[in-house]
Amino acid sequence: MSAFVTQGFHHVTMVARSSPRTLRFYRDLLGLGLVKQTVNFDLPSTYHLYFGDKTGSPGTLLTFFEWPHAGRGNWGVGGVHHVALGTADETAQLKWKRWLTDRGVPVSGPYNRGYFKSIYFADPDGQILEIATAGPGFATDEPADALGRQLIRPKGEQLPSGRDEAAIRALTHPEPVTAIGPDMALSGIHHVTGMTDDLGAADEFYGKALGLRLVKQSVNQDDPNTLHYFWANYDGRRVLPGSDLTLFGWPATARHAREGIGQTHHVAFRADDEAQLPAWREHLLGLGLDVTPVRDRTYFKSIYFRSPDGLLVEIATDPPGFAVDEDPARLGEVLKLPAWLESQRDEIGAALAPLV
Ligand SMILES: [Fe+2]
Ligand SMILES: [Fe+2]
Repeated sequence: MSAFVTQGFHHVTMVARSSPRTLRFYRDLLGLGLVKQTVNFDLPSTYHLYFGDKTGSPGTLLTFFEWPHAGRGNWGVGGVHHVALGTADETAQLKWKRWLTDRGVPVSGPYNRGYFKSIYFADPDGQILEIATAGPGFATDEPADALGRQLIRPKGEQLPSGRDEAAIRALTHPEPVTAIGPDMALSGIHHVTGMTDDLGAADEFYGKALGLRLVKQSVNQDDPNTLHYFWANYDGRRVLPGSDLTLFGWPATARHAREGIGQTHHVAFRADDEAQLPAWREHLLGLGLDVTPVRDRTYFKSIYFRSPDGLLVEIATDPPGFAVDEDPARLGEVLKLPAWLESQRDEIGAALAPLV
């Protein structure tokens, strides 16, 4: 096994048309914290917003490039289908369903996926999101110390032919939900699901590059003629929460993902500290990957490369974090710029739409 094993997701970056609209959805409707308002360091005339828990912990971060003039993206091979956020249990999940549907956001599910239960909805740009329960986990249908070694078929009632869709649609929290309670807390990125046209190559890539191990071979429960594999940080005993990447296996003829509004731009995994990053880079170069130099993103340092099917993957350091340039009690309240852009603050600020 590779000596390089990521501790899980650091952040997921998506593309949005309108930052004020993104703020209303992720802060006001999903209750996430805006932990940084800054600009895209590679395109400083546009916002880059970071949402997460109060302090912007790695693994809780959803970030958004604002590309107001881009076309609509779409999911497909080499892209992300949906991003799942975790919540404690089914009660919390049904409260989210009620909260969102009462506010005009259509929600499907809850579907029993075996390893967790799932509800689905979309953000204003069409990015598919899921809220998934923490458990019961991958050891429900194979031994915890032997996950991912054989194909596991879902139960009949998990497949479209066996589901009671009317009952699933009707199931919601019985009372209106008037506020996002502490019991509904979103724990961060539960899993990210993408598409590949070569599960074998993906297994080799995520295993060698990131140290993720196959923890479930199953079939896509919404399309049972296709496979669905799950990888995670797994030491042979325990699957680390916040590290589960899943891929639908699609035929090579399937459409490829297109970058744009409503699509995930890249997925970032954690490196514990800055000192590790050059070693990660050497490790990835040693696998024959085309890896960028280390880039300073102010709140972390990063390298980027692509998976065999084309997904842009980043490795980002945990430190220094979001308190590096503002009071940790007041994150996200004002526009922050890296030092090299400070001299252009007036022009940059004038080009950005007010967030409220
Ligand atoms: Fe999912
Ligand atoms: Fe990133």
